[in-house]
Amino acid sequence: MATKKKTNEESIEETDLMDEEVEEVVIEVPDGEPTIDDLPGVGPATAEKLVEAGFNELLSIAVMSPSELATAAELGEAVSAKIIAAAKKLANIGGFLSGNELLERRSHVMKLTSGSKALDELLGGGFETQAICEVYGEFGSGKTQIGHQLAVNTILPVEQGGFGGEVFYIDTEDTFRPERIAQMARGIGLEPEMILERIHVARAYNSAHQMLLVDEIKRMSKNIEVKLVIVDSLTSHFRSEYLGRGKLAERQQKLNKHLRELKQLSDICNALVLVTNQVHSKPDAMWGDPTKPIGGHIVGHASTFRIYLRKSKGGRRIGRLVDSPNLPEGEAIFNVVADGIRD
Ligand code: GTP
Ligand code: MG
Repeated sequence: MATKKKTNEESIEETDLMDEEVEEVVIEVPDGEPTIDDLPGVGPATAEKLVEAGFNELLSIAVMSPSELATAAELGEAVSAKIIAAAKKLANIGGFLSGNELLERRSHVMKLTSGSKALDELLGGGFETQAICEVYGEFGSGKTQIGHQLAVNTILPVEQGGFGGEVFYIDTEDTFRPERIAQMARGIGLEPEMILERIHVARAYNSAHQMLLVDEIKRMSKNIEVKLVIVDSLTSHFRSEYLGRGKLAERQQKLNKHLRELKQLSDICNALVLVTNQVHSKPDAMWGDPTKPIGGHIVGHASTFRIYLRKSKGGRRIGRLVDSPNLPEGEAIFNVVADGIRD
């Protein structure tokens, strides 16, 4: 048995992993933070497949379903199930965490300034990591402007309200403008080139491409300190590709998967995920605001924070915190000016 285990660790083919033996392998928790190299029964070939597919952290493997991992890393489903089970043990997420442990994880949450004190205060000090924040509102309400400003601010050092990290921007509507980033960078006295170098932009051509780009970010997060991921807009491709009632269920399923992957990314990288969303009018709404964000409750449940943006008099914008786990509802007034988002 002991010698058999050694060969297991040396190099094991996928088919070998099917062997029931793998289940008997004693999982020894190594000193320090365990990595995927500590997964029992995963030989170099399988490890390489995992890393290539963007799974370089145990947590990212542990949260997958066997069929998802099988597809993503081109492995057998039985193998994937075993790898996931082992990753769960090593990553210690198989069970409940105590309140204190949760508090410890939450203690890593960072807050990003938006450039507007009022907006920061509405969010209890700024835009949080380990969370998805959805900004929704009609055209021209300032969603893309907030995305640009947060991208610039993310690069600021922590002492200045930033994350000291880099930005991945998934652009679905071709509205990312490096010129606007440069303008906002100068607005806080920073070198535009230094900022633009740290903002990685990809144009998503359809919803499937949009989802693939999240995997790509996961892969790149091995070498880059990812602190902000922007999807602008989250829903436009889904909305135009899945038309009609008959496609609704499929659309919601895909959106849900996309959001789950984004949430994982925010946890793994301790990053903020900002998604923008348009509204559609609900003419049958008798009271209150007749507009509703696209994607309905799927997007609503997946987002940790939801901010509803409205245009107001004199170019002002009103941001309303609609949904938050620990903050009261409220509103903040801010402006979009040449330098960016300001009070
Ligand atoms: P959609 O993507 O169409 O749904 O809209 P959005 O919510 O993303 O709107 P966006 O963030 O693009 O806001 C556009 C508005 O921001 C413009 O109408 C201007 O009021 C303002 N804005 C954009 N760029 C500048 C600028 O350089 N200077 C100033 N002062 N305002 C700007
Ligand atoms: Mg926009």
